Amino acid sequence: MRNITRRDAVAGATGIAFLQTSAVFGAQANSAIALGIIGTGARGQYVGGHMARDGRARVAAICDIFDDRIEQAKKNVPGATQAKVYTDYRQLLDDKNVDAVLISTPVYLHPEMFEAAVAAKKHVYCEKPAGNDVAGVNRLMRAGQKADPAKTIQFGFQQRFSPEYRKAHDLTAAGELGELKMLMSFWILGMAPRLGAPNGLPLPNVSDEERRVRLWTRWRELSGGDIVECDCHGLDTLNWFANAHPVKALGQGGLRYPIYYGDITSDHYDIIFTYPNGAEGYLLSARYACGFRDVKEQFFGSKGVLETARTYYKLHGPVAASRLTDDDKLEDTSMIERRSPSPPSWGVWPTSPTARSPGKRCCVRGEPGSRCYANRVRPQHLPSPIPGMRTRASAFRRKEPAYSCARPHTGIAFTHES
Ligand SMILES: NC(=O)c1ccc[n+]([C@@H]2O[C@H](COP(=O)([O-])OP(=O)(O)OC[C@H]3O[C@@H](n4cnc5c(N)ncnc54)[C@H](O)[C@@H]3O)[C@@H](O)[C@H]2O)c1
Repeated sequence: MRNITRRDAVAGATGIAFLQTSAVFGAQANSAIALGIIGTGARGQYVGGHMARDGRARVAAICDIFDDRIEQAKKNVPGATQAKVYTDYRQLLDDKNVDAVLISTPVYLHPEMFEAAVAAKKHVYCEKPAGNDVAGVNRLMRAGQKADPAKTIQFGFQQRFSPEYRKAHDLTAAGELGELKMLMSFWILGMAPRLGAPNGLPLPNVSDEERRVRLWTRWRELSGGDIVECDCHGLDTLNWFANAHPVKALGQGGLRYPIYYGDITSDHYDIIFTYPNGAEGYLLSARYACGFRDVKEQFFGSKGVLETARTYYKLHGPVAASRLTDDDKLEDTSMIERRSPSPPSWGVWPTSPTARSPGKRCCVRGEPGSRCYANRVRPQHLPSPIPGMRTRASAFRRKEPAYSCARPHTGIAFTHES
């Protein structure tokens, strides 16, 4: 492991991986990695399930303090029924048959568990964020410095490992955007508010302590608050693309919905960051947008604009190549697009040669859930999938889009607004 500087420590607060995954999978390519899952809640089952479905790993051990979570993991994580079950994570770490651990417990436990996992010489995938407070993150960073360099340590900032984000980052680093002037993170989550019970406690039949652990996100002391626990993804992405960390932050927030349990003081935020070169960063966050979800970043440089999200990136510009003729024109004129290679389950629409004819507004669609940039067409208003869509989808899978302004959209289709 390389030396960790203070700057890395700050990065660690938002969960930057400091070693490559290849060490985990490469070093033991001849036998499946024996994985231990610590914390078999939502994320433990989801990420652990992904790992278990990769032929290079098998679930050897699972650990949780609650029986129902263990039972859920047995149901949802392939191979977990044959895994050893622990209720104390230290015993799992003592298990010499376990090569690598996934730490997917509440945030306040990450520093302690990470420290112990490193001391036990396991490969570690620790969910983000690194800790719920500065002291915890510092503890984790100190442990990281002592880690066996032959082991891989990775944090659950999955954007950093997504092909879309990596390609978009390469383009930015190659200067396609020019100098970054403004970086924006939108973290608008579509959940309904977690109101709890106005006249009573949520989970009324458990002890106060158990309720706090099960509902740990509602307590700042346990989660670090929503910016640390959740919006850190967006902030990490801004820092990654800026190749820097903000030197100043100024923000405000508040509650749109009443809180009946816990001590969270804001369910929405707007925060302005200043980067060392004077670039401005923004975090716009709303936790409960009730079905409307908008999670993405936008980067404004001296030459172009880039939008990133978990299934695509779009590069607009340079200005001279823009097809827009006036401020109110609503066509999406992305110059480069790359979308998640999985074909849409509900079909791909044909690229209509007339879709861009003058006066017609068009709608850009890609995968299920993708937003329509220009108008309000919903899937049920669109024509049925056509034969040949698989050919187009697999062509997209095979080939990276060329980086040319003249190139039409790739892997997406247009349709008219009626
Ligand atoms: N990367 C992402 O996109 C993403 C998404 C969601 C959550 N997360 C992160 O994943 C982590 C877990 O979140 P979650 O939503 O799965 O929470 P969760 O409450 O569903 O799961 C946490 C599990 O840890 C268990 N646990 C608590 N104390 C324990 C202990 N001492 N020993 C063993 N197990 C213990 C709980 O019983 C629970 O089953 C958090 O850090 C969260 O921020 C990351």
